[in-house]
Amino acid sequence: MAWSLENELRDLIGVNEIGEAMERLGFSRRASITSLRSGWRRGGAETYVYEFDLVEGAREAPMILKACTPGFGVASVRSSFQKWLQRRRSVSERGIATPHLYAVGDCVLLEERLPTKLTAAKGTGLASDLALSAASMVVDLVDMGYRPVDLISDLWCRGAVAVLVDFGEDLGDPATAVPPTKSLQASYSCLKSLGVSGDSQALRLISSRIADFVQECFVGDAKWSESTKNSN
Ligand SMILES: Nc1ncnc2c1ncn2[C@@H]1O[C@H](COP(=O)(O)OP(=O)(O)OP(=O)(O)O)[C@@H](O)[C@H]1O
Ligand SMILES: [Mg+2]
Repeated sequence: MAWSLENELRDLIGVNEIGEAMERLGFSRRASITSLRSGWRRGGAETYVYEFDLVEGAREAPMILKACTPGFGVASVRSSFQKWLQRRRSVSERGIATPHLYAVGDCVLLEERLPTKLTAAKGTGLASDLALSAASMVVDLVDMGYRPVDLISDLWCRGAVAVLVDFGEDLGDPATAVPPTKSLQASYSCLKSLGVSGDSQALRLISSRIADFVQECFVGDAKWSESTKNSN
């Protein structure tokens, strides 16, 4: 049987007919699919994506299919995909916003497609709220032990809320023995380039976290203080 988006959705959702798949996605059987472009495209280093909308009258649900295609250094595609799901679960339990997950298949998932990247908010009325939302996320992630270096470029927006969409190797696994300062400093610079002022709530939140960590390091009871000393 030839590949088609309809077949992929039936398979992913585990039903026999596309009408049933539409119903499981909260639409009626009459809903239609509008693809943004024909076929899959490479999303980035670890994904292939297929973007489409489910449309019924005035109602439209932007969706994205994401296939896990990791690069070198992972045990297997399946284990990499399982890691995506674990990280996604752990961060959303912490209250970090993630795209709505419609369906999970064998190394493929279907999720809400968000309209804009955080970095596109520069100069808009939402920039300072989004910066604060992103800064809170960064602080939560480093508190959980994650050490992302280029987090801000993986953030998308749902209104004034920053949403994390990438749970791959850029987020990585929690590594509490590694000092969080690099992650915090990189996020600080990136948020500053969004145009928010140096004394904004967002940047004050990140810089006060950097100050806390530096102080903990000198007091000497931080989990990562040994590795900080070793790397100097
Ligand atoms: N939920 C989403 N909403 C909108 N676009 C998305 C979403 N998820 C992924 N994308 C699109 O697909 C691209 C790749 O997704 P993602 O960042 O998850 O994968 P990646 O292969 O790890 O990418 P990178 O190499 O940039 O880290 C994004 O840059 C974006 O264009
Ligand atoms: Mg990535």
